[in-house]
Amino acid sequence: MKLANRVVLVTGAGSVAPGWGIGKACSVTYARAGARVVAVDISAEAARETATIIQAEGGQCMPLQADVADPAAVCAIVDEVRQHWGSINVLHHNVGIGKVGGPTDITFEDWQQVQSVNVDSLFHLSRAVLPDMRRQQHGVILATSSVAGIRYVGYPHLAYSVTKAATIHFIKMLALEHAGQGIRCNSILAGLIDTPRIAQTVARQFADDLDAARAARARQVPMQKMGTAWDIANAALFLSSDEAGYITGTELVIDGGLTAKYA
Ligand SMILES: NC(=O)c1ccc[n+]([C@@H]2O[C@H](COP(=O)([O-])OP(=O)(O)OC[C@H]3O[C@@H](n4cnc5c(N)ncnc54)[C@H](O)[C@@H]3O)[C@@H](O)[C@H]2O)c1
Repeated sequence: MKLANRVVLVTGAGSVAPGWGIGKACSVTYARAGARVVAVDISAEAARETATIIQAEGGQCMPLQADVADPAAVCAIVDEVRQHWGSINVLHHNVGIGKVGGPTDITFEDWQQVQSVNVDSLFHLSRAVLPDMRRQQHGVILATSSVAGIRYVGYPHLAYSVTKAATIHFIKMLALEHAGQGIRCNSILAGLIDTPRIAQTVARQFADDLDAARAARARQVPMQKMGTAWDIANAALFLSSDEAGYITGTELVIDGGLTAKYA
């Protein structure tokens, strides 16, 4: 029970389609480790589904609907958690959206939306949780970034990649600012992970042939397979727990050797 008595807030805690998204697997993993989990998602139904899975296993989960790009909504969810469960011990910022294409393919509105959901949200969330963490001289902030933040992985995912790079640096800055206050901040750099979202994004580049998309992604990876949401969840649990007590300001790459190949 590595997270007993901890309140863990996960953003993007559902899945865009049936199956296991990263936030959903992380939420269930945190709950299995004894945490009280706040499952935040823009889709109330997706948040509820995660909560139902956790509650069916005897765990505790509060599903909350919110768009994390909206600062007022972020303040409201953090206030609600405070009223019911007290302060948040672990913030896992997992939301991430993308729009494939470069400056001549996507609109400025698309660009701004990706920035707002992926990065501005991290500003709103950390602004909301840091005061309590500082008071307690304890806390963890974890972000799901991507190897796309440090490498070109074969898709023209400009806005996504730029925001994932920004996330890594945001987290590093936060870590250094709070290193003396018991607050640890780290990024997970996920590689090519087999989650429901790839049916909606990557498969489009393969004429919506999901099997072809999955096979092509697997071939890119030295381990010859995509990762699963659980590969990320297991690492997220470690980084959120006191076992990782001396780890801050860094990135954990979980990619089956992908970035080593493109080093
Ligand atoms: N799947 C991959 O291959 C992969 C690789 C590297 C990094 N990542 C990152 O991992 C994270 C999760 O990816 P996934 O594939 O599991 O995700 P996903 O697409 O299944 O999305 C997770 C959830 O986020 C929610 N969401 C979207 N916008 C939101 C908003 N504005 N506010 C609140 N919730 C919102 C969705 O409703 C969904 O339930 C993302 O940050 C993604 O960039 C994924």
